[in-house]
Amino acid sequence: MDWGLKNRLARIIKPDTGKTVMLAVDHGYFLGPTSGLEVPGKTIEPLLPYADTLMLTRGVLRSSVNPETPVPIVLRVSGGTSILSELSNESLTVAMEDAIRLNVCGVALQVFVGSPNEKETLINLGKLVDAGQRYGIPVLAVTAVGKDMVRDARYLSLACRICAELGAHIVKTYYCDEFEKVVETCPVPVVIAGGKKLEEKEALKLAHNAISNGAVGVDMGRNIFQSDYPVAMIQAVRAVVHKKASVEEAFNLFNSLKKK
Ligand code: R5P
Repeated sequence: MDWGLKNRLARIIKPDTGKTVMLAVDHGYFLGPTSGLEVPGKTIEPLLPYADTLMLTRGVLRSSVNPETPVPIVLRVSGGTSILSELSNESLTVAMEDAIRLNVCGVALQVFVGSPNEKETLINLGKLVDAGQRYGIPVLAVTAVGKDMVRDARYLSLACRICAELGAHIVKTYYCDEFEKVVETCPVPVVIAGGKKLEEKEALKLAHNAISNGAVGVDMGRNIFQSDYPVAMIQAVRAVVHKKASVEEAFNLFNSLKKK
């Protein structure tokens, strides 16, 4: 692995703890003005001091994030579908040259294993890894789960392992029962998505379970920005991820921070 690639990876996964809190705010690429992200800049700005990485699209990056921010960017570079269409029909939406121009630390692409467009999304991943290798940009592969697919360890291990085999540097997936099997059989670091908004304590438990079972972090969106207290919530998630806080400790921190 070359120096640039290692350096960018070290900006995503923090070397002091070996963990990361990625803030995912890319939902608008297929959902439009998602609840909590109607005005992205307003949502993102107070959370930035607590995010290790910001995951978003180039449109929101250019329009809504101050270029002076020191937070490393992981740019979503796949899309082309909406909630009204077949979601798996994604293509690459950003040239690697533009990602470099935006000074990103990584690029993210979604794959749909088991979907009608499985092959195309996996080939897109291979092409993106080739481009990333050329310029030293790590690739985060996002494993999407279709409406009819079960989010179990068997399926998620299959999807994560395929992403790693195709060269992804980090894989993002969902937490599930027997999650340790997903991590054990994936030779690159795994982060989890938060999924639909849960009660804060439940979301902290999800993060805690994932970290305890081998995830290097979270790439969490709705469970942070849809909280009534997003700044308190991201700090509580950080305590779980970076400080090994228990669910109880993190929830107490959330409750004390939300009063401020
Ligand atoms: C899919 O829409 C995106 O990749 C999201 O960034 C991802 O699902 C993580 O967000 P959340 O924690 O809201 O599931």
